[in-house]
Amino acid sequence: MHKSDNKVLNKVYTATNHEELMDAYKDWATDYDTDTVERFGYVAHLSSAQALHDALNDRGAHILDAGCGTGLVAETLAHLGYRNIDALDYSEEMLEEAERKGLYKDYIQADLSRDLDIEKNKYDAVVCTGTFTYGHIEADGFERLIRITRPGGINCFTIRDGAYQEYGYREKMVELEKQQAWELLEMRNETYFTKESVQCKLCTYKVFAS
Ligand SMILES: C[S@@+](CC[C@H](N)C(=O)[O-])C[C@H]1O[C@@H](n2cnc3c(N)ncnc32)[C@H](O)[C@@H]1O
Repeated sequence: MHKSDNKVLNKVYTATNHEELMDAYKDWATDYDTDTVERFGYVAHLSSAQALHDALNDRGAHILDAGCGTGLVAETLAHLGYRNIDALDYSEEMLEEAERKGLYKDYIQADLSRDLDIEKNKYDAVVCTGTFTYGHIEADGFERLIRITRPGGINCFTIRDGAYQEYGYREKMVELEKQQAWELLEMRNETYFTKESVQCKLCTYKVFAS
């Protein structure tokens, strides 16, 4: 199978605004799975889906996969027995790839950097893997995940190392803990890319009433 040249990947990692980022994902969508999993050894979708299951343990739960990309997280959740999953991504082309897998119930094209047209407390859980990273979503994204999660529901996400230290994610997470918006269940270091020696923080929160 064809793999992307470095030009495509550089576009994703050097995008300076959302238009550039979405343009980069448009070019990358069809090769994303092969590049991330085979070329870089991406494994964050496996660990985050497992962490969500460990915290939730409810296969009927209504889950939003935020920044779903091509649907790697839903593939793993489906192996664990989950079927009630909605997909959200800003990139039309990534959503189209996700739709081809037929693992989601609903497909939402939306920008996680802006207020979401999704009702409050709608989901039992929101998983967001690979999307709190350089040039993607900033720390204010946490509040949007919390708003659409029911009280007592779960938020599970990765934050790529490097961006974690540079983007003020931790400060926002702690601020939200102090505001009793959510409670930290677990945060641990996990492998992100096995072939590129990149790590991430894998975080699982229980949401309080917002
Ligand atoms: C690195 S991919 C991760 C995809 C998938 N979760 C996975 O683990 O393979 C990041 C995804 O986030 C999406 N994304 C980036 N910024 C976004 C935003 N502001 N709102 C919604 N989706 C966004 C991109 O289109 C892309 O599909």
